[in-house]
Amino acid sequence: MNGVGLSPPAPQPGHVPDAAVYDFDMFLDPGLLKDPHERVRQILGEAPPVFWTPRNHGHWVAMSHDAVFEVARDWQRFSSESAPREHQAAMLRMLPPGAPHVPRVRPISLDPPDHGKYRAALAAAFGPKAIKARTEEIRALAARLIEAVADQRRCDFVAAVAEPLPVLVFLRMMGLPGERLADFRVLVHKLLAPGVLDPMESARRMRNIADALGEAIRARRDDPRDDLISLLWATEIDGEPMTMEIMEDFCVLLFIAGLDTVINAIGHAVRHMAADPDLQARLRADPSLIPEAVEEMLRRYSFVTLVRRATEDMEFGGWLLKRNDRVMFSLAGAGLDPGHWNTPEAFDLTRDDKAHIAFGAGVHRCLGSHLARLELQVLYAELLQRLPAFRLDPEQPIGFRGGNVLAVETLPIRWD
Ligand code: HEM
Repeated sequence: MNGVGLSPPAPQPGHVPDAAVYDFDMFLDPGLLKDPHERVRQILGEAPPVFWTPRNHGHWVAMSHDAVFEVARDWQRFSSESAPREHQAAMLRMLPPGAPHVPRVRPISLDPPDHGKYRAALAAAFGPKAIKARTEEIRALAARLIEAVADQRRCDFVAAVAEPLPVLVFLRMMGLPGERLADFRVLVHKLLAPGVLDPMESARRMRNIADALGEAIRARRDDPRDDLISLLWATEIDGEPMTMEIMEDFCVLLFIAGLDTVINAIGHAVRHMAADPDLQARLRADPSLIPEAVEEMLRRYSFVTLVRRATEDMEFGGWLLKRNDRVMFSLAGAGLDPGHWNTPEAFDLTRDDKAHIAFGAGVHRCLGSHLARLELQVLYAELLQRLPAFRLDPEQPIGFRGGNVLAVETLPIRWD
């Protein structure tokens, strides 16, 4: 691979043998930016199921379904806390008195038992009943966004629909102003850009998000309304009232999760549908297949890569991992692993094993999955009903972004 522009390679640690090394920059790998899931399939074909890359300060990557499933579920050996507790305490002591709070995205950056207390505070708002109540609001918004471009016979589907739909639903849910959609998206793009793996840089970027949300969070404390921020203010954790710091931690996580996930699920799926007129015709003729199609799209195009920290020296994937080694795990890899799925590259509504892990596995499994599924099901139904057969625009390329989220940034499509 040509290494120009990639992050500089870190020295290979003594415990990493040459056979474990595969050169992969998860942010800027050229193949990933050209066609992310094809590149993931190529890596599955040529790299070990768990490998070490020297890019981005050097880290492990688990790609096979079994390895990914194990890392996701084994929180005792693979911690979500980016540094051991004693280091975290030492880092906090180094901050000057009165320094702004550095957001810790809770509950995603905590291990049990603390994790459960913070997750419970969010659970009711994202449960199936609360989410189902939003169906008509989501349907009306999806219809409005599609109708706004229906006569144009072409659009960038990300800018026109995939981005505003989930982002506006989420901002309304939180009680944040919809007019700030564009500023908020810029903040999330900046957070997830290369450099996020550097703890100081990541803290600075998260602080920027907390600053952007601070006014709205304080406003709901003083004047509660019918929204998620007000609901969270009313929650107690361990019998203690909510604090501004914990509110910032919750809101920064929800902001990242709400603003850069469903967009990409839509982007990858609509790209697939645009290239597969038979599938469009089948789903138009029988919309009852749409929920199954949503699941198969999530499997075929899983797009999140997560990080954990090894808590002890261990043997994993045939290699020796040292305590505090960073381990990334690719859900896209899990979804496309030929060792787990029959013909993983095929979009197959009739496959026997449908249990994908696009929403993760174990204690951190996605809290937003009911919301995401509802948005995807409603959107595909509205799209197939309101637009005639659509196709990729041969004159304009699709824009992709790498990193923790394999993102679709632009998706030019056309119809007659
Ligand atoms: C298709 C869309 C989505 C996908 C593929 C997705 C994927 C994931 C994954 C893989 C995790 C596990 C993280 C880990 O193990 O460290 C996760 C956690 C989480 N997700 Fe999602 N997500 C999506 C949409 C959403 C939405 C819309 C929200 C809320 C607005 C949300 C909120 C969360 C939260 C709060 C967690 C943390 C749960 C915990 O730590 O216990 N997600 N998501």
